[in-house]
Amino acid sequence: MPALDGRIDLHAHILPGEDDGPQTLEQALEMARIAAADGITCIAATPHNVGWAKADHRSRIRREATALQQQCHQAGIPLCLLPGVEIYIDFDLLEQLQDGRAFPLADSRYVLLEMPHSAFPLYTEELVFHLQVKGYGVMLAHPERNALVQANPSMLAPLVERGTLVQITAASLAGQFGPLVARTAAYLLRGRLAHVIATDAHNDLRRRPELSAAVAAAGEIIGPAEAEQMVRDIPRAILAGEIITPDPPLSRVRRGKSWWVRALSGRHLSG
Ligand SMILES: [Fe+2]
Repeated sequence: MPALDGRIDLHAHILPGEDDGPQTLEQALEMARIAAADGITCIAATPHNVGWAKADHRSRIRREATALQQQCHQAGIPLCLLPGVEIYIDFDLLEQLQDGRAFPLADSRYVLLEMPHSAFPLYTEELVFHLQVKGYGVMLAHPERNALVQANPSMLAPLVERGTLVQITAASLAGQFGPLVARTAAYLLRGRLAHVIATDAHNDLRRRPELSAAVAAAGEIIGPAEAEQMVRDIPRAILAGEIITPDPPLSRVRRGKSWWVRALSGRHLSG
């Protein structure tokens, strides 16, 4: 088992032919090379469960992650591949978890939950509560890309206060999805509303599996040590099966200027 003492990427589309990630083994291996060169030692392969899912989801993804790790080993790429799935939020999620269409990251307790880009379902808090009662943890995938969160990032505070973790995407911090996404990601960092940075990589070109630039950018906002924790300690604790209690969000106590004024008045991100 490769070491978990490097940077860990808990959200990546790297299994060939599984979804809108790489379509060939060679593309997947090129992504693995990029990740390893960037200092990533372990990736949770998280294909979409909606629109792409094939039968026998959980066991097949487990097999494919193991197969890709073996291919990496044969190609001399030091990378650990773990099975996961990016679960599109749905009211029947508990059923999906029972029948294997959905499953937690790498046998941990955390499910990676994707929101729509332009809506925030009203049943989200209730669903998270039901998942927690069943012993699951929830990590929201890249809410900085959600239009409602962009308009009011503090809306995540009640979820975080009740234990939900938030994953922001490395490329968001670099401005790859535009300035509004970058500002929202920066706000989430400043407000203790983000806990993990992951690549959400899809290919070896524009959406690459790299964390270094994002960790440096996050370090400018929250300090280098805390930025590193978002790609090391917290992902490692998740993979170890722990349930993590996030710090209380600062957004609850900072009142006054609107969020984007505060975001702009802080340090600017590079890029
Ligand atoms: Fe994704």
